[in-house]
Amino acid sequence: VPLKTADHFSSPPPTSETSLIVKAIQKNDFLSRLDDEQTAMMVDLLAVSSYKPNDDVIKEGTEGDISKIFSSHLLAGELLVTQAGQTLRSLTTGDVFGELAILYNCRRTATVKAKTAVRLWCMERQTYRTIITNKSKKKREQL
Ligand code: CMP
Repeated sequence: VPLKTADHFSSPPPTSETSLIVKAIQKNDFLSRLDDEQTAMMVDLLAVSSYKPNDDVIKEGTEGDISKIFSSHLLAGELLVTQAGQTLRSLTTGDVFGELAILYNCRRTATVKAKTAVRLWCMERQTYRTIITNKSKKKREQL
């Protein structure tokens, strides 16, 4: 299964940002289950995207297609998580979000809006699934 898709034109994060991203992955309840090899693969396959203040990064109730990993190395950035119009919390450098719809195959549980200009490292659902699938296939082959 090819890991790089047509949408994946951007280069992986620079070395100066990878440790921040790895820390964010390890801090996340769900992503921390990935082993070192899977984490490295995930970092390598992230693509950058930028948002302006007031942009919706994720819309509550829509299909989850992209998992976004937020890393604001160059720009100071802040995002707001809301549910049915109520503010739940704000997110900043080192926070991971958008993982729930990808992991549970459900619709987006909340809206994530840019409060300031933000730069994100994103991963597509299919890429995430491929990383997980490749690993369990390897494990089976070792038995
Ligand atoms: P997802 O449902 O894919 O898209 C919206 C994201 O908002 C969700 O994943 C979580 O990452 C985040 N989110 C949802 N609820 C909360 C909450 N109560 N506090 C912080 N973040 C949340």
